[in-house]
Amino acid sequence: MKNQKIRMGMVGGGSGAFIGQVHRMAANLDGQIELVCGAFSSDKQRSISSGQDLYLDESRCYANYQEMFEKEAQLPSDERMQFVSIVTPNHLHFDVAKLALENGFHVLSDKPATFSLEEVLALEQIISKNQKLYGLTHTYTGYPLVKQAKHLVASGELGKVTKVAVQYSQGWLSKESDTDNKQAAWRLDPSRAGISCCVGDIGVHAFNLLEYISGLEVEQMCSELTSVVDGRALDDDATILVKLNNGAKGIVGASQIAVGDENDLAISVYGEKASLTWRQQEPNSLWLKYNDKPAQMIRAGVGEFCEEAQMAMRTPAGHPEGYLEAFANLYLRFAQQVRAFPQAPENLEPILGIEAAVRGMAFIESSVTTSQSNTKWHTFNPYAQKTL
Ligand SMILES: NC(=O)c1ccc[n+]([C@@H]2O[C@H](COP(=O)([O-])OP(=O)(O)OC[C@H]3O[C@@H](n4cnc5c(N)ncnc54)[C@H](O)[C@@H]3O)[C@@H](O)[C@H]2O)c1
Repeated sequence: MKNQKIRMGMVGGGSGAFIGQVHRMAANLDGQIELVCGAFSSDKQRSISSGQDLYLDESRCYANYQEMFEKEAQLPSDERMQFVSIVTPNHLHFDVAKLALENGFHVLSDKPATFSLEEVLALEQIISKNQKLYGLTHTYTGYPLVKQAKHLVASGELGKVTKVAVQYSQGWLSKESDTDNKQAAWRLDPSRAGISCCVGDIGVHAFNLLEYISGLEVEQMCSELTSVVDGRALDDDATILVKLNNGAKGIVGASQIAVGDENDLAISVYGEKASLTWRQQEPNSLWLKYNDKPAQMIRAGVGEFCEEAQMAMRTPAGHPEGYLEAFANLYLRFAQQVRAFPQAPENLEPILGIEAAVRGMAFIESSVTTSQSNTKWHTFNPYAQKTL
């Protein structure tokens, strides 16, 4: 086999889209991946012209994703794309992933994994049948100090975890007129976003970060979802209480009506001996705090780190790394997984996959159903959600 870059296709991310171009920058950062084809829009001309704007080979700027999978599958194995990056609105994630897997391609999808819990459970079966890789881009798991935070909890630095508080707070949907924005329009439309806006869009990141850093699992939940702006069919604010599988309690907050807040994702994990706090808007600092000695601010690039965190840093201390680099870490991991496939790469934590996808979709659906219930606590079980 030739020594080549990993070849990627993209669905979504046409001109004017948000996250598609972030994915492309992230894929490019380490020189391991090449974008070779795409179906970038639901509009045929826009799809093709978006590929041309990226200087892709004319024959590989496709009118739609169905054509892309069909034609790519016919190319020689050392030319065709190896994985597809899915960056469309939520209602298309399942269909695109399914068709990709059935045509022999690995899948790297943005969250939420699918439109519904039912779809993600079907996707789990399809992945198991087709034996291809599936990765989910929970961006925040790519930050070096998030990996260090996970390591500190796992190594017992905090002692037994007693409480976790995570909040993802934005203000960009605080007025009715905000809905005129292209990104807002589909997020507030139940036929394209799914059962939830705020929890589906950002609450699921908060939930994932809680489980990722704490190493614990949500077992019960009690939620209160609101549409603060009148006339919205979906939630724009959420407060969710959770019980974790070690007996600890937690709070998951998410809001898109928090005027003035940007992408203010913050998590605190409290243990019997110490606590930690990480904030996305200051991603190169991690606080470690005690009751009986001074707090410590861990700074990216300064001192010793666990291997996962060390491998996720690129620049010397004080040269800030952020969102794009965190995304790039997910791409780099996935590229290594694709290169090693069907073996697993050595010494490497794989990026989150279908298990996190199922838990995330169950969390979104549960947050809505439990919010509508008068019972306080509900069992959280992705495979028995219908009993709620
Ligand atoms: N991981 C993160 O931090 C993060 C951040 C933002 C968005 N997202 C997720 O990324 C996805 C896209 O969000 P966005 O804000 O970029 O949306 P967007 O509206 O800016 O972009 C969506 C793109 O998909 C294209 N598209 C629509 N239908 C298509 C089809 N049939 N075939 C091909 N392309 C099609 C649109 O033309 C557009 O280019 C969503 O699922 C969202 O939840 C994740």
